[in-house]
Amino acid sequence: MNTIILAIESSCDDTAAAVMKNGKVLSNIVAGQLVHEKYGGVVPELASREHQKNIVETVDLALKQSNINLNELTAIAFTQSPGLIGSLMVGASFAKSLAQSLNIPLIAVEHMQAHVLAHFINEPKPSFPFLCLTVSGGHTQLVVMRDYFKSEITGKTLDDAAGEAFDKAAKILGLRYPGGPLIDKYAENGNSKMFQFAKPNIPNLDYSFSGLKTSYLYFVRDELKKDSNFIQNNLHDLCASIQQSIVDHLMKKLLLASKQTGIKQIALAGGVSANSGLRNAVEQSGLDLGWKTFIPAIEYCTDNAAMIAMAAHFKYLAGDFASLDCTPSAR
Ligand code: KG4
Ligand code: ZN
Repeated sequence: MNTIILAIESSCDDTAAAVMKNGKVLSNIVAGQLVHEKYGGVVPELASREHQKNIVETVDLALKQSNINLNELTAIAFTQSPGLIGSLMVGASFAKSLAQSLNIPLIAVEHMQAHVLAHFINEPKPSFPFLCLTVSGGHTQLVVMRDYFKSEITGKTLDDAAGEAFDKAAKILGLRYPGGPLIDKYAENGNSKMFQFAKPNIPNLDYSFSGLKTSYLYFVRDELKKDSNFIQNNLHDLCASIQQSIVDHLMKKLLLASKQTGIKQIALAGGVSANSGLRNAVEQSGLDLGWKTFIPAIEYCTDNAAMIAMAAHFKYLAGDFASLDCTPSAR
């Protein structure tokens, strides 16, 4: 029998829907929300309202592109946690109603787990155990994956997430939200050694980005006092230098984790894994150290519903279904 899953992702500011048949992606639609750009970050209330506006059309489009009818679906999946509670509620309510009306199982998926399981969408797929650096706007974790749903977090951020560090650095430069992709773009033509900032010094496999951000903020503020055009005149070098600092910190702990665990299958996941500096650094370390590296296609790095469908596919096979009275959770 075929397994055909419609998955919905609405944890933050992207409304996404995907259809997956027997583990293969048939469609993967993401509707972004430009409304947050001018606020410098996601406004939760606005995000919920935008999800309400976009969800029907997004699901419709995912079904149309996949050439699958509602009555062919065998399960409905949704992101249960973590995320903005109002945003999660929109996806959860929609998924539950649909599952009930079609009388098919409901599958609840954890967003961070789905980011990691995105590695099973395309070849080459990692085998267990593998080490995954999961870096998004809300999380930064080093995870040892022992099985699809069996993992150990060996390190995590003690303050800001890596994506937040990118977005805050961008905000300091007056760039719009989300700033991570813009820093990446401007960094391409910049000198990453031009400016130096305080290096985080955190024990074990944990991360910290708040000191780096403060160091960057004070540096830019002091330079602006001397030259009001400092940012415009140095934008590319400023972006390249902060990107290098963030990537160096991420890589330092990833290298240590690989050394400590002896695991040489190394994966990247989450929105920040779209960053070209980080992708290059992991690939280079892979060549230097004999790692087998797994870096997802960009469309599966940032938030998407195909990864929710992938996690749901494995849950479906394991018979792990949610009840209709389950509720989303922010954490
Ligand atoms: O995984 P994701 O799409 O959403 C969350 O679950 O948070 O990650 C979003 C984060 C944002 O902070 C965004 O600025 C960052 O990923 N990001 C990037 C790049 N693309 C997305 N950061 C640096 N370079 C990029 N190319
Ligand atoms: Zn995410």
